[in-house]
Amino acid sequence: MGQHTRHGQSRTPEEYANVRREITVARATISDASAISSVLASNREDRGLFQESAEALHRTIEDFVVARLETEIVGCAGLHRDSLDLGEVYAVAVLPRYQGQGIGERLMRSCEVRARTAGIRELWLATIRPAYFSRYGFEVISRWELPGSVLLRKLRQTLQQPAQRWLPALFGRHTFMRLRLEFPAKSPGEPLRPPQELQ
Ligand SMILES: CC(C)(COP(=O)(O)OP(=O)(O)OC[C@H]1O[C@@H](n2cnc3c(N)ncnc32)[C@H](O)[C@@H]1OP(=O)(O)O)[C@@H](O)C(=O)NCCC(=O)NCCS
Repeated sequence: MGQHTRHGQSRTPEEYANVRREITVARATISDASAISSVLASNREDRGLFQESAEALHRTIEDFVVARLETEIVGCAGLHRDSLDLGEVYAVAVLPRYQGQGIGERLMRSCEVRARTAGIRELWLATIRPAYFSRYGFEVISRWELPGSVLLRKLRQTLQQPAQRWLPALFGRHTFMRLRLEFPAKSPGEPLRPPQELQ
């Protein structure tokens, strides 16, 4: 009997296995911006999820990895470098019809590997799905444990979102989480976007 995705479609175990095998995760390029924007928009009912236009994504495209199934982009995740040691994982999303098949996990692992390779020692995120991210070792923290400059950047980003997204973000529906990366790479070097203060 097939398993059901969140949106009620049914796939056989063989179909699930095929999806897992055929997914590739790679750095995004400018030509992926509108597909990333569509993946985010397809999950817009999840009020906690960051939304961004393709034009705005052109400025941050280096943050992103995308999951592809054949030629279709089915998921995305962003990694923003806040400082030499600290990075934010954001905009983790999978097209609804592909959710629950391990694509989110591939995207999270990719962000972790990129962070380690770049010498980042700590990841943080803000989410309305803490149970999902605790699977990857993220632990709940108080937002006030983050540097003030990081909170200010996040506030500015939140205020650029559609107004109905401000309320959950500003009135505490987000859970803040942190993952310490215990074994950073010995030779940092992946060209992640540098933190703004270093640009
Ligand atoms: C959250 C999201 C990115 C996960 O991606 P996905 O591809 O569906 O997740 P995966 O298939 O990799 O899930 C791996 C496991 O996590 C579990 N899981 C999925 N959502 C979960 C949740 N909200 N809480 C706890 N566990 C969850 C799955 O059941 C699966 O478990 P299994 O390996 O034991 O079968 C995806 O569901 C999504 O795009 N949601 C909407 C956007 C969103 O809320 N993003 C989070 C940022 S706020």
